[in-house]
Amino acid sequence: MMKFTTLKLIDLGFIPKNIYLSMERNMSCGLGQCGHCMIGKYYVCKDGPVFKYSQIKDIPNPFI
Ligand code: FES
Repeated sequence: MMKFTTLKLIDLGFIPKNIYLSMERNMSCGLGQCGHCMIGKYYVCKDGPVFKYSQIKDIPNPFI
C-alpha cells in the first residue's frame, strides 16, 4: 500500500523530499547492532523509522 500510495503522490506532483514514510520493521536489538532492521544503508531503529522518500527511493524494494 505504501508503495502505490507513494507512486500516486508522485503522479499528482508531490516532490519526493516532501513525502515521508514510516518504515517500521520487526526489530531485534533496537540499537543499530544486529542489522535486522536495515533498509539499504539505513538502520530503521537508529536512523528512522520515518524517512523521506528521496532518502530511500534508490534502494531496491524498500517496502518489503
Ligand atoms: S534492530 Fe538491530 S540494528 Fe536495528
